[in-house]
Amino acid sequence: MLIEFEQAGVEAAGRPILQQISLRLVESRVGVVGLNGAGKSTLARLVNGLVLPTTGSVRVDGLDTRSQAGTVRRRVGFMFQNPADQIVFPIVREDMAFGLQRLGLTRAEQAQRIDAQLAALGLSALAERPAHALSGGEQQMAALAAVLVCAPEAIVFDEPTNQLDLLNRERLRAVLKTLPQQLLVLTHDLPLLDDFDRVLVMEQGKVVADDAPAAALDWYRRRCATLGGAPC
Ligand SMILES: Nc1ncnc2c1ncn2[C@@H]1O[C@H](COP(=O)(O)OP(=O)(O)O)[C@@H](O)[C@H]1O
Ligand SMILES: [Mg+2]
Repeated sequence: MLIEFEQAGVEAAGRPILQQISLRLVESRVGVVGLNGAGKSTLARLVNGLVLPTTGSVRVDGLDTRSQAGTVRRRVGFMFQNPADQIVFPIVREDMAFGLQRLGLTRAEQAQRIDAQLAALGLSALAERPAHALSGGEQQMAALAAVLVCAPEAIVFDEPTNQLDLLNRERLRAVLKTLPQQLLVLTHDLPLLDDFDRVLVMEQGKVVADDAPAAALDWYRRRCATLGGAPC
């Protein structure tokens, strides 16, 4: 799908968080890196209308996120940086069913898809567990399952590996490789982006580099070395 930012700027509390950004994203795998506070999450949230641009526009396959947010959100899944922000129901299975109910599936269809999705991620043991009692990493995996079970056409991941142990990090890496969807992945886990099609580097609300992964990540590492004296 075509994700289009046209002079999209975001201001909050009277200061610019995103400068006016123009981008056309069509690649299957797009990564976004940048220091804390660079504007990555804000950029990601623009994609499905969780944040609306103060100036300019954002369109997903021609759908404006301002006027067609509901449709955009059905087509673009979003995995939040903090899984507690997206887990709505107390039990993992119920939380996964929430998205499916909105898609109009019967209870039997929902159960079948939930079981298959959890099994595919090696998470069947979590199905009946209370989501609030899971570890941060387990919550992150449950949040991933809840996004995938709805089979969106594109998925935005905001720091998907930040709480994962090595095993789940590898699992998530493998899952990302096999997903047919277009993915936009924000991360500090730079090797995750090695085989991506395109990587954006953000700094102070701007895209300051936009290139193939090797070149963009090299740019970012050198930039961090300049800023902090040590490589990122
Ligand atoms: N709703 C908001 N109100 C005020 N400041 C915000 C808001 N959202 C984000 N910011 C600020 O904008 C900057 C970019 O935030 P964010 O997009 O979360 O960056 P990143 O994800 O790269 O760490 C940060 O300085 C953050 O504190
Ligand atoms: Mg962020």
